[in-house]
Amino acid sequence: ADTIRIAVTPGDGIGPEVVGEAVKCLEALRAKHGLALEWTRFPWPSHAWHEDHGESWPEDALEQLQKFDAILLGALGDPGPVDDPERYLLPDSISLSPLLDMRKGFDQWVCERPARLLPGARQYLADDRARDIDMLVIRENSEGEYVSQGGRLRKGTPDEVATQMEVFTRKATDRIIRYGFEQARARAADRIKESRTRSFRTIDGRTCESQVCLVTKRNALRHWGDMYTEAFEEISREYPDVAIHHELVDAACMKFVQSPWAFDVVVASNLQGDILTDLAAVLSGGMGVAPSCNLNPTDPDMPSMFEPTHGSAPDIAGQGLADPTAMLFTTARMLEWLGRKDPNLAAAGKALFQAVAADLAENSTRQRGTQEIGAAICARLA
Ligand code: IPM
Ligand code: MN
Repeated sequence: ADTIRIAVTPGDGIGPEVVGEAVKCLEALRAKHGLALEWTRFPWPSHAWHEDHGESWPEDALEQLQKFDAILLGALGDPGPVDDPERYLLPDSISLSPLLDMRKGFDQWVCERPARLLPGARQYLADDRARDIDMLVIRENSEGEYVSQGGRLRKGTPDEVATQMEVFTRKATDRIIRYGFEQARARAADRIKESRTRSFRTIDGRTCESQVCLVTKRNALRHWGDMYTEAFEEISREYPDVAIHHELVDAACMKFVQSPWAFDVVVASNLQGDILTDLAAVLSGGMGVAPSCNLNPTDPDMPSMFEPTHGSAPDIAGQGLADPTAMLFTTARMLEWLGRKDPNLAAAGKALFQAVAADLAENSTRQRGTQEIGAAICARLA
């Protein structure tokens, strides 16, 4: 197979620290499994903008990154010094976030955020059924509330008005819902292989191995809510083996806390999915363990991007305290994803997942630094 090339973008705050451990694990896996894998580091911190008032990322960042098979990203975001907040206000001309530019530029229309409470991970809910939490939140990642249309009228006056438009297309709706059903099927097949079956009831009383729950706010946001619901009902007919469910986003938040073990695959819009996945991350052990992937499943020439759900955590940056577990779970998913180009990478991804999970199960109660955790996981891989 051709050599698979990864662009490594450590970013800001704790990003470089956790990415450092990911690269060590990739080195160990490459040596052990003889992987045809190489990577290039792009040290483009957001705070470069603050230092020289140039751009945070080079103008041609997307062009450079497009040549790679995947992007492994640490974290982006730099709030700057609290004593001089003015200096850190970005002008309108600077993009909100290279993260959003990449999602759009590479049409990474799926954001997958699994939330499974693994042994050793912190259980925030008192109810012990929380140990069974195993869901996959699929966030629509290309449009919706994130289209950035709108503006500020009469800016700076007492009569100022800010508008922010949401745009939902039927094509993007259909593809994300279909993706949700496909993932539900694939997860059911994996569970059957591992003898961890589950059961979900359909409205007509049948039992299914998997479920898709659609989240909207159709009682208030009628137009896209109705379109999503129609698409969901139509597409669900092609998947009679998958149970279906619909929640309004406010009720979904409540049920995520009350009975999160009852969810399997959850499909949500861009912003609602953003909010639900912070909640789901906490349900499955916190930001320290939550992986995330921004995927383009349709165009093989576009790189997908892999970044943990957590941010740059400036409060603990540079101290070697950040938990690299989420970054390493994310790296494992990247390798599994790249398995579509080279099956050896899928096997390496599984091995990495198992090493990180085993480390979590055995050491979760110990106080360890970033490098100590990374080294323990590398040792398991060797
Ligand atoms: C995330 C983040 C981003 C988002 C921010 C940084 C723009 O919260 O990846 O979840 O809202 O998508
Ligand atoms: Mn978020």
